[in-house]
Amino acid sequence: MLKPIEWDDEKKELILIDQRKLPHKLEYFICRSYKDVAYAIKEMVVRGAPAIGISAGYGLALAEIYGDNIYKAYETLKNTRPTAVNLFWALDRCLKAYKEGKNILDEAKKIHKEDIETNKKIGKIGEKIIDDGDNILTHCNAGALATSMYGTALSVIRFAHYNGKNIFVIVDETRPRLQGAKLTAFELKYENIPFRVITDNTAGFLMSLGKVDKIVVGTDRILKDGTVYNKIGTYSLAILAKYHNIPFYVAAPLSTFDLKSKEDDIVIEERDEKEVAYIDGVRIVPEGVRCYNYAFDKTPPNLITGIITEKGIIKPNEKEIMSLFD
Ligand code: MRU
Repeated sequence: MLKPIEWDDEKKELILIDQRKLPHKLEYFICRSYKDVAYAIKEMVVRGAPAIGISAGYGLALAEIYGDNIYKAYETLKNTRPTAVNLFWALDRCLKAYKEGKNILDEAKKIHKEDIETNKKIGKIGEKIIDDGDNILTHCNAGALATSMYGTALSVIRFAHYNGKNIFVIVDETRPRLQGAKLTAFELKYENIPFRVITDNTAGFLMSLGKVDKIVVGTDRILKDGTVYNKIGTYSLAILAKYHNIPFYVAAPLSTFDLKSKEDDIVIEERDEKEVAYIDGVRIVPEGVRCYNYAFDKTPPNLITGIITEKGIIKPNEKEIMSLFD
């Protein structure tokens, strides 16, 4: 089983799979300071909402271990990526522990351990929506690599497969960073789950042919009203799903819910235009041409069939969301 994040207690190091190198090379990126962790999050050595949160927790622990200013480290880690709420959730939890005189490392380890259990629950609960013979489309990478283990959307797919359901996965390549083509494909191949990769613009055509039975994606943030922020392209998929009457599910742990913010508060990350202009180091648009590079988009609740959490499957509305936190 892939473990993208590991803590070495002896060496006091955070060991991350360098996701920039996958699928061709399985290399590790060692973090020995909170600054290394901040770099790793910003540059997407580690990515995916829960994985970013867990790593940031260890980052703050490294700051404590090496006697750095905790508040400065907190700010640096907080300013790495703006959209995934798990980053702020984990940092706030670790800072609270610190203020209560507890050890930050213990809290970071707790977050890490809890995430494994949570993802397992999401998979076991969520796999019930999958029928034998389903073709399931997924976007980006919401797998083990985006979390501690199992993943969220991919945990649902994994457990359907583990339970003997005959499933087939359709993987959106997910331009520009190709998390689908590179990371989800790497995970599914590793697990021998049948799949094919498609270009993002093939999804609608496959739906029109009746070749998509269900869509399951992850998310970076869910608001109280059920609005879902996820990898750019999710919104288009949800609209296509509605048109073709295909169930559209979002899988997420409770740590991805943001009960405080409103839509206007959310910053959609805009990354370097070069990520669009170049593919694997080769420029594909003419010199001097500008590109849009929004990393995430926003999907309204009326396009979402259900949200799969570790506490059950709910409808995307305030009443059901709030009931998760009772
Ligand atoms: O830019 P990334 O690769 O960090 O974006 C990841 C996603 O959008 C995932 O779908 C989301 O974080 C959920 S991961 C379980």
